[in-house]
Amino acid sequence: MYRITRKKALNPTVTLMEIEAPMLAKKAEPGQFIILRTDENGERIPLTIADFDRIKGTITIIYQVVGATTEKLNHMEEGDSLQDFVGPLGRATNTEGKKKVAVVGGGVGCAIAYPVVKKFFEQGTEVHAIIGFRNKELVILEEEFRANSSKLILMSDDGSCGEKGLVTDALKKLIESGEEYDEVITIGPLIMMKFVCKLTKEYGIKTVASMNPIMVDGTGMCGGCRLTVGGTTKFACVDGPEFDGHEIDFDEAMARSVMYKPFERKAHEEVCN
Ligand code: FES
Repeated sequence: MYRITRKKALNPTVTLMEIEAPMLAKKAEPGQFIILRTDENGERIPLTIADFDRIKGTITIIYQVVGATTEKLNHMEEGDSLQDFVGPLGRATNTEGKKKVAVVGGGVGCAIAYPVVKKFFEQGTEVHAIIGFRNKELVILEEEFRANSSKLILMSDDGSCGEKGLVTDALKKLIESGEEYDEVITIGPLIMMKFVCKLTKEYGIKTVASMNPIMVDGTGMCGGCRLTVGGTTKFACVDGPEFDGHEIDFDEAMARSVMYKPFERKAHEEVCN
């Protein structure tokens, strides 16, 4: 059983949990994910590893309540235990050999961007973090990003914090001011990643996007997480979750991401009632 050792609300809809999982904490790397079940009959949901502590033997996950399982998870408290907590799954972010990078995160995707930024920073890479939120209320991990990046640019849609505008505006400004990145890594809503990749393609900057599609088994068997990358089918759980952003068919990924929304909404209502 996997005990919840810490629970903290980061904003009105996003929560951080630390889970006791020493074997996973030993091997976890930024970019990888876990699959959890809250109880015996629960569905399996993937969540990216937001942080890990090899000494304490804990894995940090950050989630937003979007459906039945995240709602159930949100009702669990410190001291409770999860039924299953499997991982680390997927390929870790390749941080080797990069001198200067930009990491562009949006919304709750910033929880995934954070360990990537931290790893680059710790290894001595100049890392510029650009993080965007709809408004001030929804900002997460600002201090953590500030402490673990060479430069932090905070953007908000309504201008209630940081600069008003989109993350792509900030990235464009940096590129046009002469910043030369070996790579851009983007993590967040599909529409945001699509436009980050469109922008970097224009400037010929290699870009990696972290995909978070629907997953079932997490082992490459069910096909639930399939994506088209460079015209071929890939499975995010075993081939990813990071892919060449200039090769991803984002329109297909967006269409697939809303396929199960009515079912999710119904299951969520059942848990809430
Ligand atoms: Fe089943 Fe990836 S989750 S193939």
